[in-house]
Amino acid sequence: ETVDADGLVALPGLVDLHTHLREPGGEEAETVETGSAAAALGGYTAVFAMPNTDPVADSPVVVEHVWRRGREVGLVDVHPVGAVTVGLEGAKLAEMGMMAASPAGVRMFSDDGRCVNDPLIMRRALEYARALDAVVAQHAEDHRLTVGAQAHEGPVAARLGLAGWDPTAEESIIARDVMLAAAAGARLHVCHLSTARSTEILRWARETLDVRVSAEVTPHHLLLTDTAAEDYDPVHKVNPPLRPAADTEALRRALADGTLDCVATDHAPHAVEAKDCEWSAARPGMLGLQTALPVVVTTMVATGLLDWRGVARVCSEAPARIAGLTDQGRPLVPGEPATLTLVDPEAAWTVRGAALASRAENTPYEGMEMPASVVHTMLRGRWTVRDGKVNA
Ligand code: DOR
Ligand code: ZN
Ligand code: ZN
Repeated sequence: ETVDADGLVALPGLVDLHTHLREPGGEEAETVETGSAAAALGGYTAVFAMPNTDPVADSPVVVEHVWRRGREVGLVDVHPVGAVTVGLEGAKLAEMGMMAASPAGVRMFSDDGRCVNDPLIMRRALEYARALDAVVAQHAEDHRLTVGAQAHEGPVAARLGLAGWDPTAEESIIARDVMLAAAAGARLHVCHLSTARSTEILRWARETLDVRVSAEVTPHHLLLTDTAAEDYDPVHKVNPPLRPAADTEALRRALADGTLDCVATDHAPHAVEAKDCEWSAARPGMLGLQTALPVVVTTMVATGLLDWRGVARVCSEAPARIAGLTDQGRPLVPGEPATLTLVDPEAAWTVRGAALASRAENTPYEGMEMPASVVHTMLRGRWTVRDGKVNA
């Protein structure tokens, strides 16, 4: 089974630390099967499935189910992320050790979508994770500054300084969590960091606290700014929100200089009903798996901020290292089955939500031209995508 790789760029298989696959409970938006297809088509060979499912992935039963479904589908390695607290309710620590001991071998925990508001619970979670040699991946948002502020939500209100999109909801939690992680001697991964000051807090933490902290940025926060959301089209509603251009610029620079370790999609499929409504009622989130790499090319490669070597680092090597994967995110090893993706850097394409493999269609890039295409993806010596099509 040979392919013609003339003119293509070879990358180690991409690794996404932040995917919402919606199974179990949200199958009208996505399943492990449809999400795995979207991942493979996007060049991914491993994804981390966030636990805000129904039921929540806070027990060995649920994480093992997601893990098994991933193996059955076989298009991408699906690593379930365990919930930090029972039901994502923030009150009681989940049995992280049981999830770590399950066949799924969970080594990343998150309450993504929610923030652990109670600092004592967060501190205990970090200590538990440290004992398991696991990482806590935190959604940084003090909900007391955001929830219930819908009337004030949106770019216009944010510029007027009203609560709702208050960047301090994110920044204050990141500052708190790096200090708690340092105190616990634990590893912290900051999810979808979105402001310039958040990157400054990260630099300060690394320089002064001697803390093991990593951070991700989403493709949409690299490309889109709050002006996109001024239409109050729910497709532009996402958590954290789209930020002013000065933040977008700072995020690009921070990804280029290594302050931000990696790109993670926060792929968040939503059924039509969850988006086909007014802004305040809409669910936050955007599709990301099939557009992530081209958006990184647009924002980082075409701008001269990263070369393809850098793309391999932020989309594959760094996330694999953060998650402790040893068989992903590395160059070809002679004699071992390959895990890689082959990209045509010249093949432009136009995004159509209806044509994406996800069950949902909530892409913010509808009609937008993307500069590069994933052509082939290989997982341990088997083509999962050939000529831009899933190889079932
Ligand atoms: O926009 C978001 N969507 N942010 C989150 O934190 C959760 C996610 C979701 O699950 O839809
Ligand atoms: Zn989140
Ligand atoms: Zn998320």
